[in-house]
Amino acid sequence: NKGKYEHYMQKEIHEQPESLTTTMRGRLLLGGTSKAKGVLLGGLKDHLKKIRRSRRIVFIGCGTSYNAALAARSLVEELSGIPVTMEIASDLVDRQGPIYREDTVVFVSQSGETADTLQALDYALENDALCVGITNTVGSAIARRTHCGVHINAGCEIGVASTKAYTSQIVVMVMLALAIGDDTISSKVRREAIIDGLFDLPSKAKEVLKLDQEMEDLAQLLIAEQSLLVFGRGYNYATALEGALKVKEVALMHSEGILAGEMKHGPLALVDETLPIVVIATRDTCFSKQQSVIQQLHARKGRLIVMCTEGDAESVCAGGSCRVIEVPQVEDCLQPVINVIPLQLLAYHLTVLRGYNVDQPRNLAKSVTTQ
Ligand code: UD1
Ligand code: F6R
Repeated sequence: NKGKYEHYMQKEIHEQPESLTTTMRGRLLLGGTSKAKGVLLGGLKDHLKKIRRSRRIVFIGCGTSYNAALAARSLVEELSGIPVTMEIASDLVDRQGPIYREDTVVFVSQSGETADTLQALDYALENDALCVGITNTVGSAIARRTHCGVHINAGCEIGVASTKAYTSQIVVMVMLALAIGDDTISSKVRREAIIDGLFDLPSKAKEVLKLDQEMEDLAQLLIAEQSLLVFGRGYNYATALEGALKVKEVALMHSEGILAGEMKHGPLALVDETLPIVVIATRDTCFSKQQSVIQQLHARKGRLIVMCTEGDAESVCAGGSCRVIEVPQVEDCLQPVINVIPLQLLAYHLTVLRGYNVDQPRNLAKSVTTQ
């Protein structure tokens, strides 16, 4: 039931304040006079000791689910001190990469039925790793075959392009980082800021959804383009990949997410006055580096659309002209949840304006059960 919406993708984008709330329901401990703030992931509580002892955490997924894991990678490393490696499921299986019994391997899959991810799961089970699932589908193959896991509880997602499942997956992995990270005095302030940030996240998502009309206007400008680049780094490298994936799969426009730190090593050659480029430059520790990326793009007369923190519009574009998308600021590790929403809206509106099928893009299936 699409309710007041024309398409499922549109409904699912706008539903994110609610889906994020249900993902966190019963799992955030907000503390009190004597109690500490924390998280409770029922599906992991008996396995946390073993996870904390692992030598390495390996995140495995495909497409959007891989991008969600990438968005959470550095927080898991920061709070747990355990190195995290990233694997695209098919690539791990293709090269039969090393997986050890001291590894915790986390399988991220909205459907829980993706064939590539399942094959990687069989492979990790054969190698005696602890296998953890993060899925939206209770009773799915991944939920059944993993040793333990977390249901993201985002509600059924019907649009082939994943939207609300992506943001809920990130939130679950942020909670995973909090659950496995030690509750040390030195990390207390950071942990509490993240928990407060999680609590406020649905209202910030609601705020950023107000950009809907602005994104439709931007889509109108970009309707006939051949290509769109998206530059991000740090927490928002994943946002760049995910924004580009959305544009590619539904709007059928070439789009590429690029790690901004790699710009000078090739992609800069593409920059001219015509190619539209989204630069994600919200406030975090990478902000000044992104400012210098913007300057370099300005110097080459790049056609820029800059996503920045509210209030930064003027300063961020000094030195050239650009279009700005201003988003509310949240804790750095949660910013990918907010930043992806305008890009989801952009992909949605581009698709509708270009006259393509939003909910069922050509050649794609919701659940990829073949290899
Ligand atoms: C569980 C209940 C929820 C109830 C809550 C009350 C289910 C599915 N969930 O939620 O309805 O409100 O207790 O405390 O009955 N698992 C895997 N692999 C996965 C995902 C999950 O093995 O990929 C396992 C978990 O380890 C756990 C079980 O499935 O044993 C349920 O996981 P989850 O729904 O996340 O647990 P709770 O949040 O505790
Ligand atoms: C993109 C999309 C796909 C899926 C991928 C993995 O919007 O939906 O990239 O993310 O096929 O699917 P799951 O998460 O079900 O394993």
